[in-house]
Amino acid sequence: MERKDDAPVLGIESSCDETAAAILAADGRILAELVLSQIEDHAAFGGVVPEIAARAHLAALDAMVRQALRQAGVEFAGLAAIAATAGPGLIGGLLVGTGYAKGAAIAAGVPYLAINHLEAHALTARLPRLGGVEFPYLLLLLSGGHSQCVAVEGVGRYRLLGATLDDAVGEAFDKTAKLLGLPYPGGPALEALAREGNANAVKLPRPLLGREGCDFSFSGLKTAIAQLLAAEPPGALHRARAADIAAGFQASVTDILGDRLAHALAMLPDASAVIVAGGVAANLAIRARLADVAGKAGKPLIAPPLRLCTDNAVMVAWAAIERLRLGRVSALNAPCKPRWPLEAL
Ligand code: KG4
Ligand code: ZN
Repeated sequence: MERKDDAPVLGIESSCDETAAAILAADGRILAELVLSQIEDHAAFGGVVPEIAARAHLAALDAMVRQALRQAGVEFAGLAAIAATAGPGLIGGLLVGTGYAKGAAIAAGVPYLAINHLEAHALTARLPRLGGVEFPYLLLLLSGGHSQCVAVEGVGRYRLLGATLDDAVGEAFDKTAKLLGLPYPGGPALEALAREGNANAVKLPRPLLGREGCDFSFSGLKTAIAQLLAAEPPGALHRARAADIAAGFQASVTDILGDRLAHALAMLPDASAVIVAGGVAANLAIRARLADVAGKAGKPLIAPPLRLCTDNAVMVAWAAIERLRLGRVSALNAPCKPRWPLEAL
């Protein structure tokens, strides 16, 4: 079979609550980019329900891929490869995406790539349209499922410098927002409320601040807020008080992340840049602090546009292109891995 190495690549993402498909030209130009968020399907439950997620991926994926192919003006058989997120993530969604990708790859006679979701986040900053950052660089992955600080030294070469010991940072935002009676997902709502508040009106801990390395911990902060709320007078929490608590929480998280980044930069002095990814990178207070800390170390902070920071399929197709360039395709019996740390690549 002739390999069409300069043909476009299809990427599929279905590891959590976004169904996404994207087609990229071999040089990284985005030819089609579709994302369907399931937030409304899960909102009533206050979090992602795995079985609902898997069914929603199954219902949406085929039509979405066909629409992406039409937009890009390419057919399955004209692709250089078909890639899907194979982990880490929710097993039902991973099976839907990888099963679809493998079936399409067999039918079209093109290679299949099983992509690690974290690697896809890690390599996004190398997209030509984002400036094509050079290795090595520092990645701060700040999402609802992951909080990690990673030295990205090459394709498939990742060194974990630190990670959360308990909650992911987005999870801490969501749980705190829930305690404050804000709707799911709580991050954006909490940031908006924090703008009305005074962070100095509440005293909150800053777990691990100043500690060696760059691990994170947020559960103590969440517990401190639960205790603060338990001590409030009975009845509805006043908006002004809730805003002070939201501001206090955000200030604590911002201090923690800034401190951890400073430590991480000392651990990777030759980093060409600091990249932030994940939904929490949308938070302007956090972004500003991280830019400040990176700037003091003489490094640019690069935050991809939000749609490329949060879960998407462009990053999956791009990771596939980086791997294809090195000839690293996957076997058709490559398994899904609900747990798949970056260092295992
Ligand atoms: O990367 P993402 O879209 O999904 C994964 O978790 O993979 O991240 C979603 C997380 C949620 O926890 C959400 O509350 C948080 O990112 N988030 C924010 C903001 N926007 C989204 N957290 C703080 N401030 C924000 N503006
Ligand atoms: Zn993600």
